[in-house]
Amino acid sequence: MFREKFQNITEGYTFDDVLLKPLHSSIEPKNANVSSKFSRHISIGIPIVSSPMDTVTEESMAIAMARYGAIGVIHRNMSANEQVEMVKKVKKEESIIIRDVFSIAPDTPVNVARTLMKTKNIAGLPVVASGKLIGILTKRDLEFSESEGTVKDIMTKDVITADENVSIEDAKFILYKNRVEKLPLVDSKGRLVGLITAKDIKTREKFPNASRDEQGQLMVGAAIGAYDIDRAINLENAGSDFLVIDTAHAHNKNVLSSLKKIRNAIHIDIIAGNIATAEAAEDLISLGVDGLRVGIGPGSICTTRIVAGVGIPQLTAISDVADVASEHGIPVIADGGIRYSGDMIKALAAGASTVMLGSLLAGTEESPGTEMIINGRKYKAYRGMGSIGAIKAGKSDRYEKLGTNEFIAEGVEGSVPYRGKVSENLFQFVGGIKTGMGYLGAENLEELKKKAVFIKITNSGLRESHPHDIRIVSEPPNYQNSGI
Ligand code: XMP
Repeated sequence: MFREKFQNITEGYTFDDVLLKPLHSSIEPKNANVSSKFSRHISIGIPIVSSPMDTVTEESMAIAMARYGAIGVIHRNMSANEQVEMVKKVKKEESIIIRDVFSIAPDTPVNVARTLMKTKNIAGLPVVASGKLIGILTKRDLEFSESEGTVKDIMTKDVITADENVSIEDAKFILYKNRVEKLPLVDSKGRLVGLITAKDIKTREKFPNASRDEQGQLMVGAAIGAYDIDRAINLENAGSDFLVIDTAHAHNKNVLSSLKKIRNAIHIDIIAGNIATAEAAEDLISLGVDGLRVGIGPGSICTTRIVAGVGIPQLTAISDVADVASEHGIPVIADGGIRYSGDMIKALAAGASTVMLGSLLAGTEESPGTEMIINGRKYKAYRGMGSIGAIKAGKSDRYEKLGTNEFIAEGVEGSVPYRGKVSENLFQFVGGIKTGMGYLGAENLEELKKKAVFIKITNSGLRESHPHDIRIVSEPPNYQNSGI
């Protein structure tokens, strides 16, 4: 009986076990399309997601990811209120139409208005009486006025406005023609219902491929614990575009029954994980999840496989889950173990719709990790969410707590080389994926999945794949193998 366990043993593959076969191609890399589904109702331009870890994704990371067409998931190693505020910051960073417009009453003293505009860094304040727009107070109005009196004495009364349903193109034209920076939107009764600013239009044009919601705001998600319904509701109310149920093992009776409750309470997309088997995928999909996060132990900072002896090599886990998920139209996120763009395309070819990155983004400018100099080189802190440091720092219930103060760590704390801006890194990652698609003749990621053929390689094959028999004196931006 025990011997059988080894006679029927199956093989699992991960990134370094295989390569993709080159195929006849008529596709130039620059023409390859890497847009993908992220979850049931969300599509993004770049198939890359930043991991909800406290040294990877807070608001700066989420903003940068969304601006360049990827997406970020805010970590949960903080209070629900703090996390809600972070989500709100991302949602407010760029909006084409500001809905909760900050306005001022006409009888407000000029002094008060001046301080308000300074502290809130607002250049133009709509003036509203009984809900109706009656003027606008601009910096110029303040410049040429005394400090006495009230807002109505100095405000601009002929306000250039637009109808609440104005198109962005028309709004742009009105702003340009009248040389104004702010365009208040009013309804048929003259009530202020929104505001469009020239600054927001310019930012939008600067990031044409950004991941945006229907209102033009950047998209962002947030992680929650498996039992945190209150946090889930608060995050949905704060504008989070989706939630990620963040557990080390989602295929667990208690997690599944809690997930059912969360599903009933929440309307936005729910991504659940982590899992690594087809059976887990079946069970989660039957509860109505909108995406699956795959990876048990492949992460650079994970010790799960070593401490618990459990896991499935990542490419096999991805393909097992994707076989089930694709039948239901549910996208799969390949989470963990990705070190190069070559690993990304292998994950996508194995059935993933997007890849989730921890270590590859932890060293960027926009990550929240602290910077440090080691031997003259810049590094940033990076740690597992199951490391002692992360567990102690927050309310992480992702990993098991045995007893009150005893932790069984499933991750380590360390540092990764500084890697510059998120945008530069995404450019290299996407470039690598597109280059691979060129070798396979895949015009888009669906075609990649259909056409890709893997070949198993040996240790010598792997050695041959990396640069060899040379001392590298200049590291290219997309290949770092300094043995850290
Ligand atoms: P990479 O390889 O991108 O992996 O750095 C990031 C992913 O690793 C997972 N993660 C952990 N897994 N113990 C684990 O077993 C940990 O402490 C831990 N922290 C993060 C997580 O899925 C993340 O996205």
